[in-house]
Amino acid sequence: MRVLGIETSCDETAAAVVEAGPDGSGRILSQAVLSQISDHRPYGGIVPEIAARAHLSHLDRLITTAMTEAGVDFADLDAIAATAGPGLIGGVLVGVSTAKAMALATGKPFIAVNHLEGHALTARLTDGVAFPFLLLLVSGGHCQLLAVEGVGRYRRLGTTVDDAAGEAFDKVAKMLGLGYPGGPAVERAAKDGNPARFAFTRPMKGKPGCDFSFSGLKTAVRIAVEQTGTLSPRDAADLAASFQAALVESISDRVRRAVTAFREKYDGTDFVVSGGVAANTALRMQLEKTCATAGLRFVAPPLALCTDNAVMIAWAGLERLRLGLTDPLDTKARPRWPLDPDAPARPGAGVKA
Ligand code: KG4
Ligand code: ZN
Repeated sequence: MRVLGIETSCDETAAAVVEAGPDGSGRILSQAVLSQISDHRPYGGIVPEIAARAHLSHLDRLITTAMTEAGVDFADLDAIAATAGPGLIGGVLVGVSTAKAMALATGKPFIAVNHLEGHALTARLTDGVAFPFLLLLVSGGHCQLLAVEGVGRYRRLGTTVDDAAGEAFDKVAKMLGLGYPGGPAVERAAKDGNPARFAFTRPMKGKPGCDFSFSGLKTAVRIAVEQTGTLSPRDAADLAASFQAALVESISDRVRRAVTAFREKYDGTDFVVSGGVAANTALRMQLEKTCATAGLRFVAPPLALCTDNAVMIAWAGLERLRLGLTDPLDTKARPRWPLDPDAPARPGAGVKA
């Protein structure tokens, strides 16, 4: 089976073709990604209207590239999958409309993929992870701990009550004058910094449940920046290192609690981290230690498949197609689309761990 995947929910325009064998294993036939970072850089963040227009300008060409590199024709495809949410709705509409039009023209099934399910299932393609597994999804828009029971079956153990982790990285980078996108810039600056110079509180550490919170830490960094005055490169490095250390320790505390909650209900042995912030080496190293102590296998997909891409959408499409899950052409694009519809709308309510 072969599926073309399309991703347009944020600031990456991407298309990819992935093939699945009868044993369930997958093979990436092609992947084309165009980052819009330079389009948004002058504004210090993503501008939704610019993103939507850029997707529209580049998507057709990227699809052609992906199809050519894969050496396949539309007749060789079994379905066309696109991110149908959650995300910036203008961009999501570009991908969904394109996929539906191609599905209609070629008679192939259309598959509406939840972007978060794309991130969630990537480790099954790259590392053959089996259900159930514990997932930490850390990106610019999300920070969640989920028990992944199967395709389309998720139980949320924790989520952020305010900012996403990537958002915190991006905002701190701005305060430190490190530019956009913030995550990689903060990580680079932190390498030369002293993580002990600023004693930031570890948010949520020791609190019941598995929820996250980063806005207090962000405020603490802002106050420290104001108190320091004009920042020297050393000050910026120390602030970056101290912030990153606090965030990493907070996340690993939440993960430890989630492992306990996961084990109460499931017998899975794998922990997966995915999303853009999973590219952070300090976080990866700490999570690896946390998993070793907890006796779980630590799995992190390759960096290019942790950040937004279309391989994950094609793969999630394949997983759904295998179960006969295709979608009608009147399926709507969704700005919000939780993986666990039963999780309380107010984060933290009703979660015990
Ligand atoms: O998954 P992703 O590519 O897009 C979303 O779906 O949000 O994640 C992007 C986020 C941005 O906030 C970016 O600053 C962050 O991931 N990020 C990092 C690193 N690389 C990317 N954060 C910390 N350290 C990194 N090395
Ligand atoms: Zn993402």
